Amino acid sequence: MIEVKNLSYTYQPHLPPALLNINLTIGEGEYIVLIGAKGSGKTTLIRHLNALLLPSCGEIEIDGLNTEESKNHIEIRRKVGMVFQNPDHQIVGMSVEEDVAFGPGNLNLPSVEVGQRVKRALEMVGLSGFEKRAPYTLSGGEKQLLALAGLLSMEPKYIILDEATSSLDPASKEKVLTILDQLKTGGISIIHITHNMEEALRADRVLLMGNGQIIADGTARDILNETEKLKALGLSPPIIVELMSRLHPYYDKQKSIMTVDEATAEIYTWLENNK
Ligand SMILES: Nc1ncnc2c1ncn2[C@@H]1O[C@H](COP(=O)(O)OP(=O)(O)OP(=O)(O)O)[C@@H](O)[C@H]1O
Ligand SMILES: [Mg+2]
Repeated sequence: MIEVKNLSYTYQPHLPPALLNINLTIGEGEYIVLIGAKGSGKTTLIRHLNALLLPSCGEIEIDGLNTEESKNHIEIRRKVGMVFQNPDHQIVGMSVEEDVAFGPGNLNLPSVEVGQRVKRALEMVGLSGFEKRAPYTLSGGEKQLLALAGLLSMEPKYIILDEATSSLDPASKEKVLTILDQLKTGGISIIHITHNMEEALRADRVLLMGNGQIIADGTARDILNETEKLKALGLSPPIIVELMSRLHPYYDKQKSIMTVDEATAEIYTWLENNK
């Protein structure tokens, strides 16, 4: 479990706080999407979860390990894996397999086990066959999948993606989202930062940030149906939610239609009833 208690963070004394009194509990196997306008504090918050930043006030515990204590950092970073938007910053190996082996290679595991982890991770992201390639020869999307393989090879308990899908083509994006679904089923907790509201719909729980605070915490359906609230924060609701809200008064908002499939069924019913 991740516990964030009364977390505030200020980058520099003359700046306003980037995070203000955040309280949050993240359980095992939760699939959370974190949304919010640019500058609302999403990256600052998640950087606290593997001790890349330490609180100005409050505290964070990862499975009972306080991030304030530097002796806990190795274990915390093993448990909490992160992938960022720019994969170039995360590549360390001279070849794809060396890159993925880097993390588990530092865990004192037998080399057979490291090899198995590398193979499994590359299979999961669809990069089998790329083992000997130099990472710089990979496309942007392939590099992002490599960064994800590097994270998976560490077998983390919590996975955080900070806009990691934003530069992927639709097929790679779908692959990553499917992997996230599989990991969640296996009991791994996911925290996914995205500006893509269709991606956000796949989460169990959505956290909405504004001005360094969590201003809403609920199911994807509840939070993403709040079109006016999202727009006031500079966010776009999912396209289907926007479409259905414009079809008011023909459409009852309580029905909470959010996906293409749901909208298709609803519109077919109207057409059938008005033949
Ligand atoms: N290193 C830094 N020094 C000073 N201020 C910073 C630093 N990094 C971020 N900030 C500020 O902290 C606030 C929160 O930034 P953060 O990067 O957490 O936002 P975000 O929600 O991740 O935004 P985006 O969607 O654009 O990635 C912003 O006002 C930002 O300008
Ligand atoms: Mg950010």
